[in-house]
Amino acid sequence: MGVRTPHEMQDPTSYTPGFSYRHGALTCESVSLAGIAERAGTPAFVYSRAAFTAAYRELDRALGRLPHRICYAVKANSNLAVLKGFARLASSFDIVSGGELFRLRSIGVRGEQIVFSGVGKTREEIREGLRARILLFNVESEAELEVLASEAARVGWAAPAAIRVNPDIEAGGHPHIATGHHRHKFGIDWAEARRLYLRHRNSLWIEWRGISGHIGSQITSAAPFWRASARLAKYFAELRGEGIALRLLDIGGGIGIRYTNEKPLTFAEYARALPRTLGSTMRAAGGELLVEPGRALTGNAGVLLTRVLYTKRSRGKTFVIVDAAMNDLIRPALYGAAHRITPVKQPAARVSVSRVDVVGPVCESGDFFLHDWPMPEVDAGDLLAIWSAGAYGFVESSNYNSRPRAAEVLVEGGRFRVVRRRETREDLLRGERI
Ligand code: LLP
Repeated sequence: MGVRTPHEMQDPTSYTPGFSYRHGALTCESVSLAGIAERAGTPAFVYSRAAFTAAYRELDRALGRLPHRICYAVKANSNLAVLKGFARLASSFDIVSGGELFRLRSIGVRGEQIVFSGVGKTREEIREGLRARILLFNVESEAELEVLASEAARVGWAAPAAIRVNPDIEAGGHPHIATGHHRHKFGIDWAEARRLYLRHRNSLWIEWRGISGHIGSQITSAAPFWRASARLAKYFAELRGEGIALRLLDIGGGIGIRYTNEKPLTFAEYARALPRTLGSTMRAAGGELLVEPGRALTGNAGVLLTRVLYTKRSRGKTFVIVDAAMNDLIRPALYGAAHRITPVKQPAARVSVSRVDVVGPVCESGDFFLHDWPMPEVDAGDLLAIWSAGAYGFVESSNYNSRPRAAEVLVEGGRFRVVRRRETREDLLRGERI
């Protein structure tokens, strides 16, 4: 029997607004997860619309009277029903591919609500963005700027552009998700960016609208946001001083969330971390601050629901083998991420726990969710919730081991809908030929 360490045993429903226990069973809004598993099967991602709506509204409120626009980062969770939910809140969107643009267009999002980021946009993607009349291209290299100008000349109107500046700031959870330092592939350093702004100052085909600077993801302290946005605000003012009429200051996303024991910023603290003068700067420019949160809006609004297939003991270790795997949620394998796991049936208050490894069926040792995690006794057939799976969960899933991808379920109040059906065997073969 393991020692109970308080943070591991903490109840995730205390910081995930869409989820709670009712009559001893875990529910999403007012729908029982066991009921969802029965109807939709497992593994399934379950999202609370109320939770991501509340997160959006809270951030919007925190930014308050600062002229701002929230551009939800589509990459975090691009399910059409989720995107539609944000569109109904009048959110704007940050995309990084033609595929994400296609998703947004398919649900009727207008181009002027879309910002296109990404270090390697293809000519075709740039053309699609221009035709859609998007709000902003965040340009990441001189070569991309040339392609953007040449495609703009082809369609016959100026491309709305910003340069993604590399603010040279160390931030972000894991090395794979930090982006703001000069050794990373992202952005252009300030001296070079300035040269490009000036060179294209009177260009027919580039319309400078802003400056941008996403610095990383899962950032849990204020300082990096403060440093980066102060730096960007300074560049913004400097360029305006040179007669380049920028209006949009895009500080990217990156607000961290609580997975296990992190102490992330609240949205109010995040808003307070932005330089005081930002409001007056933006108002003087008749412009807007753009933020591109992904994880902070959807991360804790979703769980991955899975069923125990087997348990086995071997040399003092207990393995709980579940029907979800690294192909469904790759974050533990890829970033060493820890997602809490709890039984769907509420454990008794003083239940004894033992340490287990929760693992999936894929043939790799990297296919685990947690090692040595304290759990009440579970049996084959029991349902487990893998928490904080609403961002970078389904979107990073694959068919590895020829496993059909999981279903996605959206809960709204007392109802739920399967918003992406579980893949079938036929889906696995689609597009292939002998
Ligand atoms: N804007 C840009 C330009 C980005 O590259 C990203 C994320 C965001 C906004 C949204 O960042 P967020 O607010 O979600 O932190 N797959 C990794 C995270 C990769 C983030 C990539 N860029 C993970 O699962 O932790």
